[in-house]
Amino acid sequence: MIIVYSLGGSILAGRDSDSLRQYADALKVLSKEHQIYVVVGGGKIAREYIEKARALEASEVFCDQIGIGATKLNAMLLVAALGDAAPKEIPASYECAARLCASGRIVVMGGVSPGQTTDAVSALLAEYVQADRLIIATSVDGVYTADPEVDPSARKIARMTPKELVRMAMETEMKAGSRSPVDPLAAKIIERSSIPTAIVHGKDIENLKKGITGAHQGTEISSA
Ligand code: UTP
Repeated sequence: MIIVYSLGGSILAGRDSDSLRQYADALKVLSKEHQIYVVVGGGKIAREYIEKARALEASEVFCDQIGIGATKLNAMLLVAALGDAAPKEIPASYECAARLCASGRIVVMGGVSPGQTTDAVSALLAEYVQADRLIIATSVDGVYTADPEVDPSARKIARMTPKELVRMAMETEMKAGSRSPVDPLAAKIIERSSIPTAIVHGKDIENLKKGITGAHQGTEISSA
C-alpha cells in the first residue's frame, strides 16, 4: 500500500536520539511492505519563531515561511534518524516527493507553500501519489465531540465521514477550540478525494502500524 503520514512536530522534536531511532526503525519495518511518505510538522520551534517574528512585525507570509523552515528542520532530524532508508533531499514539491520514492525509500518532507499547514500538505501529497491511506499522527488521540479539557462529557468519535470532518474543522476555525485536530483545508482535500484517513496519537509508536490496519483507538474517517 501507499501510505502518507502527517507527523506533528511535537511528536518528533521532544524525543531523544534513542527514541528518534526507535521511531525511525518502526517506519523502516513498515517500508518493507509499504511505500511510505512522511510529512513532518513544525511543532514548538515553529510556534516560538513565528511568535517572535510576529512581535517584530514580520508579515504573515514571512511568518509562514519561517514555519516552513521549522518543518524542514524537523524533517531533516527524521531523515538523520532514518539513515540510508531515506533520501537526504527534503522535497519542496509533490512532484519531487513522488520522484524521490524510487527504490522503496521513505520520503520525508515538510511544508510547501505559505497559508496552510502540514496537515494540508499531507492530504495533497496523498492525492498526488494516490495513497491508500493517510495517517495523521498528532498530539491528541482522535476527534472528540467537544473539547475534553473543558467539557467532561466529551467523548471520542471512533468513525466519521469526511463531510462531518469538514463541518467540524470549519466550526473549530470559527470558534477557537480544539475539537478538530485537522485544519479546514486538509479536511476539504480528504473529502474531495475520499482519502481513507486515520487520526491517531503519534506519541505511541505502535499507532504507526495500527493506523494502517485500522486497529487503532483513534478516529477513522471514511465515506463508506
Ligand atoms: P504545522 O503544520 O506544524 O502547523 O506548520 P500547525 O498545525 O500550527 O502545528 P501543530 O500541528 O499544531 O503542531 C507550522 C507552520 O508553518 C507554516 C504555517 O505558518 C504553520 O502554522 N506552514 C507549514 C506553511 O505556511 N505552509 C506549509 O505548507 C506548512
